[in-house]
Amino acid sequence: MFFPPDKPGERVQGSPVASSSPDSGGPGSLGPVTEGIPARLPRRRTRVADGAPKPGVAATASPSEQFSFDLKPADIARHLDRFVIGQSEAKKVLSVALCDHFQHVRLSLAGSEAPYYQKQNVLLLGPTGVGKTHLIRSAAELIGVPFVKGDATKFSETGYVGGDVDDLVRDLVRKAGGNARKASHGIIYLDEVDKLATRGDTGARDVSGRGVQTNLLKLMEDGDVPLVSPNDVTGQLQAAMTAMRGGGPAQSDTLNTRHILFIASGAFSGMDRIIRHRLEVAAATAGASAERVPRAAGTDWMLARATTSDLIAYGLEPEFIGRLPVRVACHGLNTDDLFNVLRKSESSLIHQYERAFAAYGIECRFRDDGLRRLAQRASSENTGARGLMTVCERVFRDFKFRLPSSRIRKFSVTARMVDDPRAELRQLLKKAL
Ligand SMILES: Nc1ncnc2c1ncn2[C@@H]1O[C@H](COP(=O)(O)OP(=O)(O)OP(=O)(O)O)[C@@H](O)[C@H]1O
Ligand SMILES: [Mg+2]
Repeated sequence: MFFPPDKPGERVQGSPVASSSPDSGGPGSLGPVTEGIPARLPRRRTRVADGAPKPGVAATASPSEQFSFDLKPADIARHLDRFVIGQSEAKKVLSVALCDHFQHVRLSLAGSEAPYYQKQNVLLLGPTGVGKTHLIRSAAELIGVPFVKGDATKFSETGYVGGDVDDLVRDLVRKAGGNARKASHGIIYLDEVDKLATRGDTGARDVSGRGVQTNLLKLMEDGDVPLVSPNDVTGQLQAAMTAMRGGGPAQSDTLNTRHILFIASGAFSGMDRIIRHRLEVAAATAGASAERVPRAAGTDWMLARATTSDLIAYGLEPEFIGRLPVRVACHGLNTDDLFNVLRKSESSLIHQYERAFAAYGIECRFRDDGLRRLAQRASSENTGARGLMTVCERVFRDFKFRLPSSRIRKFSVTARMVDDPRAELRQLLKKAL
């Protein structure tokens, strides 16, 4: 046996859900997707009970296992509203896909797997720093399933240079505390899949990207992955010694991926041009029935209309794209969204700063005008909410250095302070003398 079995009746952690709904909506938004649903959910939603795995089959297949999942799409969207600002469409699409998938897993593990079920792997498109990873991570926390994130760029076709795509599955087992059963219905999040495109604007073909896409095909559908990497000599030796010693409950040495949900994401920069071209050609040839491209249409508008043909034109293989049937675009974050990321998201960066100063007994108060100015500055960075970190780091740099060894015990973050942090700090220090 390579991994310890579950403790009897072990429960997987879930998260409480509060009633706040900070979805700012943003331009063109339909508003929060969770209106009118119950405010609180029980703390723990999923449970994996012990069960004996069938010999020779991945440890996931035993019908005696119980996996309880009783969330509804609106429950998941409500949870996401607490942490992720905007992205209403992505929240809706993800919530539905996650519920469908985990209901299917629940039924399968209870022994009534739906025949011909097709997995609803998801593709998230959208610029950097707008909450793609944050959405998936927050959803996985709520559902209580193991989650791993890997960058598609770190894999190579052969696995000798860079990683092997099978490592993702083994990482999932590690995340599940070595429990292959739990890992078998986890979530694998594959970032930067756009970098696997084999036809760039230059027309050059990247053979390695195509090889990695091919290697991912079997994983994304239904493949068996060895729990110990063939390149891991120590792991192979340990496995052989454990087998020789015998004892412990039988556990398969492979993990089947058919209940693992794959979520891929990428910025797909430049794809707006492909989409615009397709729509303009269609408008010119099909006439009045075709959708017109509005004069003000930007990247968000274009990405929301991405089709399979656009993704293939971008350079992804049809077989790869075909295994990501659920697609949704995340919109860019404007200044209002960034303000709400700071003001309303439970994962707001301001809590990190409040805690950092509180560690020295200093109270740091954020005023709304200060938050708005930080959001304005971050907006011009063009890196989504990641820009907030860059701006805050610059603004607070000297405060973090000087205040802990001063007599100052509180200060406020205002627009004036964000505009000229050094002058504000000088004044504060002068007053404290
Ligand atoms: N819509 C949002 N609401 C709240 N916080 C957000 C949002 N978007 C981003 N953030 C914050 O910014 C950080 C980075 O976001 P995230 O990792 O989700 O970006 P991403 O869209 O996956 O970008 P990339 O394409 O670069 O991976 C998150 O940890 C989160 O704190
Ligand atoms: Mg990301």
